[in-house]
Amino acid sequence: MQSVTPSRDGEILILTVNNPPVNALSWHVRDGLGDGLDVALADDGVKGVLLICDGQTFIAGADISEFGKPAQGRNFLDVLDAFEKASKPVVAAIHGTALGGGLETALVCHYRIAVPSAKLGVPEVKLGLLPGGGGTQRLPRVVGIEQAAIMVAHGEPISAAKALDFGLIDALAGETTLAADALAFAKECVAKGPRPTRDRPVTGEIAIVEKLKAENARKWKGFEAPYANLRCIEAAAANANIDDGLKVEREEFVKLMSGSQSAAQRHMFFAERQAAKIDGLAKDIALRDIKRVGVIGAGTMGGGISMNFLSKGIPVTIVEMAQENLDRGVGVIRKNYENSAAKGRFTTEQVEGMMGILTPSLSLDDLADCDLVIEAVYESMDVKKDVFGKLDGICKAGAILASNTSYLDVDEIAASTSRPQDVVGMHFFSPANVMKLLEVVRGEKTADDVLATTMAIGKKIGKVAVVAGVCHGFIGNRMLSQRQIPANQLLMEGATPAQIDKVHTEFGMPMGPFQMSDLAGLDIGWHRDPTRIETVRDALCAAGRFGQKNGKGFYDYDEKRVATPSAEALAIIEEFRSKSNLAKRDITDQEIIERTLYPMVNEGYLILEEGKAQRASDIDVVWIYGYGWPIYRGGPMFWGDLEGAKKIVEALDRHGVKVADSLRAKA
Ligand code: 3HC
Repeated sequence: MQSVTPSRDGEILILTVNNPPVNALSWHVRDGLGDGLDVALADDGVKGVLLICDGQTFIAGADISEFGKPAQGRNFLDVLDAFEKASKPVVAAIHGTALGGGLETALVCHYRIAVPSAKLGVPEVKLGLLPGGGGTQRLPRVVGIEQAAIMVAHGEPISAAKALDFGLIDALAGETTLAADALAFAKECVAKGPRPTRDRPVTGEIAIVEKLKAENARKWKGFEAPYANLRCIEAAAANANIDDGLKVEREEFVKLMSGSQSAAQRHMFFAERQAAKIDGLAKDIALRDIKRVGVIGAGTMGGGISMNFLSKGIPVTIVEMAQENLDRGVGVIRKNYENSAAKGRFTTEQVEGMMGILTPSLSLDDLADCDLVIEAVYESMDVKKDVFGKLDGICKAGAILASNTSYLDVDEIAASTSRPQDVVGMHFFSPANVMKLLEVVRGEKTADDVLATTMAIGKKIGKVAVVAGVCHGFIGNRMLSQRQIPANQLLMEGATPAQIDKVHTEFGMPMGPFQMSDLAGLDIGWHRDPTRIETVRDALCAAGRFGQKNGKGFYDYDEKRVATPSAEALAIIEEFRSKSNLAKRDITDQEIIERTLYPMVNEGYLILEEGKAQRASDIDVVWIYGYGWPIYRGGPMFWGDLEGAKKIVEALDRHGVKVADSLRAKA
């Protein structure tokens, strides 16, 4: 099968793209398009051209896997130029998603028609890029500066209905009759002649650019691409001649493409998709049917977990031990949905619909008909074993029994049942209805179809699911402790919580180790004996400093939870430190990086050596979607490669950290 097949219908030459799965603009597609246009222009019998795609979608963009590789085939910009300057009208027929280079291809076509379900957008910013095929210059000429700025800066696609409103498409086709409708439309366009986008004026107000920057200052902190996209929009507004604007776009594009941020974001694009693949598992494995889910525990975690399923229309039975806790948990779920409804995310009917499929219960017996049961009770092995032992006697055969444990041994939990093959870890991250990561913990005896079903249900509820092996803290929390331990040690050597946290937030993390501890609660896992002080944390808890929840922890908090450094906490740290015989010294920011981030990379290598993660990119996915590692740094393993194994190993040796063999071998 050719990537682009020409065919004739009367005066119209039809170019049909076929490059599964998403009709990306691989070199052979560019060649096919260029060749097809040449044929159309050379044939006097052809009066117009129709560009349409086979398969699930219109062209979904440039072929990202070609980026950074030696150029092959026709140059994309030359092909676009030829289409736009064609002497015969060219029509694009759009279904599925016209994204990035796909929309840019549609923009050099003279007319566009789309099915109602089509989506059109320029998501390049999400890859750390900008639409480098003229999108930043042509969009403002078609939809106006305001809409173009929003589209390039956020990268969200718009619906066909909106595209029609904005003039991005000229007509809507029937949902199932695109080929025929587009052909008829192309025939109409013959009389109208070519309409090159480049000849159209830029309309709209440039003030939108500053508005977007102000509105998104926090969200875009550290990112280069949104600003580069907006500079191109400014260039479109400032240059009446499109070629001048295109020059600016090219310069900005080349800068982004050769920088580390886009490399990191492109790495993550593939990493996220790769994470869904389970090595050694048959692709066509039959999945178990999940029609009803049980959740044990109606606290913050259980409630958040339940919402994921309710939002997708999957009924949930939620079980608590005491009526009061059950009522409170169900009340919080309702309130969360109502808050979302107030922001326009749901209608009142939808909220009632979701609450209507939630069944609160005080008895585990009510989980008998559930296909998947997720336990989200107190993090104690004894408690979990007790729950799983009971579930074993209650749940129907074939039900998947999942634990939301964040550290504990899933094999030991599984051993408390007579069906360890049905037991799996489903480690959600708080808030569970928001955070995208789901660590799926594969026990020694977890059946293949249980693992595959759990990964699939994770995807269904909008999570990025990553397979982890059984070890203390799995992938994410195991690495987290390699950050926390040296961070505490640095306090003993003279650094302050604020200094360490600042290094982390400037690195791009949403919060540093001590801000995170305060948020989680310092008293979690505390032995509750104020006279027993073995760690700084014990000392803070003994002084009644439990974190954000009571307004004081490593920091002091005001009623809006704004943190300020705490004289009392610093005095407690100092007192504890002075007893440790460690000399106080100045700690540099570089040392904080080396002591708190390099050990995480090292731990990642150990996790891989032990086979607890399938691949390095899975570890990156865990840290980006579970802990807010900045995506423009590509996750700890990708970042570790950028830093260089040699530099990391030297520093770890200097700081007395045992280096993973595979990391040392790479240095
Ligand atoms: N290039 C190469 N491969 C791509 C691709 C692309 N643009 N888009 C998707 N793929 C691959 C995926 O890696 C995946 O491969 P796999 O099966 O081996 O894992 C496969 O196609 C299917 O992708 P999804 O799993 O994402 O399929 P969905 O149906 O869920 O989503 C989609 C389809 C909405 C098109 C989604 O794939 C997507 O958003 N793709 C990226 C779109 C994009 O960013 N386009 C801009 C590219 S950059 C560009 O055009 C630069 C230009 O301005 C110069």
